Amino acid sequence: MKKNNEIEMSFLAQPTDVNYFGSVHGGNVMKWIDEAAYALAVQHTHKYCVTKYVDGIEFINPISIGDLVHLHARVLQKGTTSIRMHVTVCSENLVSNRRLENCACDIVFVAVDKQGNKQKIQD
Ligand SMILES: CC(C)(COP(=O)(O)OP(=O)(O)OC[C@H]1O[C@@H](n2cnc3c(N)ncnc32)[C@H](O)[C@@H]1OP(=O)(O)O)[C@@H](O)C(=O)NCCC(=O)NCCS
Repeated sequence: MKKNNEIEMSFLAQPTDVNYFGSVHGGNVMKWIDEAAYALAVQHTHKYCVTKYVDGIEFINPISIGDLVHLHARVLQKGTTSIRMHVTVCSENLVSNRRLENCACDIVFVAVDKQGNKQKIQD
């Protein structure tokens, strides 16, 4: 079966993603990171996976509404039941082409069965 080691997602930052200061809410960025890592973890292991651990997240630059947001996730390491990935978030102003690094972190998912018990990741 296909085993991708990386995944990319791109979409426009929506007016509904805004925080009280007019840029994208940090909680939305964390949700996108979780979604990108989930997609890669499941695509890579072909098993359901849940978030186990997120390493320190730093918000480097704000994302503006209307920016094209790019998430990139790649596999760093596979354990017996876990998969560690690195996720980066960049935003692109479509008028000026200016691209900013917004956020990066490592994130660990664990493969689980239908009862939510961890299960081995097979090669
Ligand atoms: C995922 C879950 C089934 C794992 O069960 P567990 O008994 O706690 O698992 P373990 O402590 O044995 O760890 C499982 C794997 O995660 C890794 N892991 C655990 N804690 C970790 C941490 N803080 N950092 C990095 N990896 C970690 C372990 O090294 C192990 O990896 P390996 O099997 O590849 O060697 C359980 O913790 C759970 O259900 N958590 C809630 C998940 C959830 O709801 N997530 C959604 C967000 S709230």
